[in-house]
Amino acid sequence: MKHLLLINFKNYPEATGSNAVKLAAALAKVKTDIYEIAIAPALLDLKEVCKNTKLAVYAQHADPVSHGASTGQVSLAELKKIGVKGTILNHSERKLPFSRIKKTVSMCIAHGLKTVICASTMRDIKDFAKVAPDYLAYEPSELIGGEVSVTTAKPKLLLKAVRLTHKKSPGTKLLCGAGVHSREDVQRALQLGCDGVLIAHAIARAKNPRQVLEKIL
Ligand code: G3P
Repeated sequence: MKHLLLINFKNYPEATGSNAVKLAAALAKVKTDIYEIAIAPALLDLKEVCKNTKLAVYAQHADPVSHGASTGQVSLAELKKIGVKGTILNHSERKLPFSRIKKTVSMCIAHGLKTVICASTMRDIKDFAKVAPDYLAYEPSELIGGEVSVTTAKPKLLLKAVRLTHKKSPGTKLLCGAGVHSREDVQRALQLGCDGVLIAHAIARAKNPRQVLEKIL
């Protein structure tokens, strides 16, 4: 099983609009046998990116609706149709109530979409493990966007998150994220038992994203 390296483009100007397609193309040139490289472009860019890349594409958010009368919501049926593989849910920048997460996960299963639920605390991990997502992503909010990686700042908590995830939902894989920017950070995450990482600004905002990703791998 390959480790997942999920690159969140957020709404960074360097990674939105035509830049999203360019960034996806640059990242797709990176060769690796150990990692599955996946990307999460902004919702408005999903369709165009899916059309132009072979990388696995995740949505940054989705709603528990299929096709139908659901104005302004992100339809799971449509995500599936355009070629999206899965979705991030409850990112620190897009929090959701538990009942909404639960409903969305069960509908994602019905639509054949993978789920990555972000968790900021151990309490979150315990709660979200109940819905057995494909991935939980431990991301302490205060470290997001910074230069200190969760693997350096909170290795003990990360280990606890790994154990808690395995205990509460053995089929769920644990990712970590926040401040991850180097090969050492990723190695440390794997050593601590994570199944992969979530990275945003270190790659999405880099002058040469392909080179940064190659260095990280
Ligand atoms: O979704 C990943 C993200 O929140 C971590 O952001 O910029 O600290 O890698 P960053």
